[in-house]
Amino acid sequence: MKNKLHFPTSYNNRETKNKLFEKIQQERSHIGYYNLPNQKIDAILEYVETIDSSIETIAVIGIGGSSLGAKAVYQFLKPVKTPTRDLVFFESTDPLNIIATCSQMNLDKTHFLIISKSGTTVETIAVFKYVYAKLNSVKNYTFITDRDSALDQFAQKIEAKCFYLPESVGGRFSVLSVVGLLPLALCGVDIAALLAGAKNIKESFFGDGYIKETLLNKAIYYAKHHTKYNINCLFAYSETLTYFTEWYVQLWGESLGKKQRHSAFNVGVTPIGLIGPKDQHSFLQLIVEGTRDKSVTFIKIEDFQDELVIPDITLPYLEKLDVLNGVAFHDLITMQSDSVIEALMDQGDIPLDEIIIERVNEASIGQLIYYYELLTSLVGELIDVNTYDQPGVESGKIILKKKLNGGK
Ligand code: PA5
Repeated sequence: MKNKLHFPTSYNNRETKNKLFEKIQQERSHIGYYNLPNQKIDAILEYVETIDSSIETIAVIGIGGSSLGAKAVYQFLKPVKTPTRDLVFFESTDPLNIIATCSQMNLDKTHFLIISKSGTTVETIAVFKYVYAKLNSVKNYTFITDRDSALDQFAQKIEAKCFYLPESVGGRFSVLSVVGLLPLALCGVDIAALLAGAKNIKESFFGDGYIKETLLNKAIYYAKHHTKYNINCLFAYSETLTYFTEWYVQLWGESLGKKQRHSAFNVGVTPIGLIGPKDQHSFLQLIVEGTRDKSVTFIKIEDFQDELVIPDITLPYLEKLDVLNGVAFHDLITMQSDSVIEALMDQGDIPLDEIIIERVNEASIGQLIYYYELLTSLVGELIDVNTYDQPGVESGKIILKKKLNGGK
């Protein structure tokens, strides 16, 4: 993975960088996600072997940090690596979505993973109740939750297998724990390679490698300018990254949109997920000519491992587009992203950077995940928020509980 920054960083002073790096080093002792790339995965792999080969579908019932990471990785890999099983997600209380998702699968050949760190998330438990009642059977369930949660106790009661989140790993930072690894391994994803990708970024950052300076510079730039450039667009040039941008929106939004720790001010950098070239025909206008409040990160794939070429044919009235003849689609999409980058650079006042990943595989997405987790922690530290809590989402939950209790 390469990351080219197209904004000035030379004024970032060494002392600020050292202090920031030290803070993140200190977090490693009590924030669990940092060490996930080094975990042992034998228990997960052994469990995968116990799941009956007649199972065709793995259905995750979970929401937010309990579903988005696995979904992002699965959708990224699917076009290049045929999954051994389908992975589907129940993430909503939308009745039409529940019915549609159920209709996609043979329930008797489905293994359900009920994933909830807290174990009491309304959406997750509501859908689980529906499926549990419908299936009328206690087999084919595996639970992932915090030890001793209500969901853990329920799993014990029905004698189902329960995995536990490692200590101090928050929901949205949990994709590289059993939360993401188990569903992915059950569908044939090479989770060792996924972790190896993440480890590569971890070692590069903590071991003075190439990504350390880049990430520190980028985080300092974002934090320093967070009131002016208060929107960050992640513009990924591949449909395979659609759900990755959703994962990023959750990670960034829930981690950084906060009241500052040492003041009463509300801060945050708004995340927007965009997909190229589709969003060239939509959001791009707003970036080029709209308010100068956005930074943009482009993600490009170096090698699509594909030779699909535009046929060498001339169509009447469309002769001018013969320039496309014989052009490989992977070259076209790269030329498109490069053209947009050049056009934005010409504006002169839009902070841009490019992330180039080698190819669509487990290691690349592992790198991207860990890179974004680190960037989130760094920016959170600099803008003085608690990156790992989410008090803002609690008030709505309390009101919902009251409503469900008949207003009491
Ligand atoms: O990052 C978070 O903590 C949240 O987005 C949670 O992942 C989300 O609310 C789901 O919670 P739980 O896993 O407890 O069901």
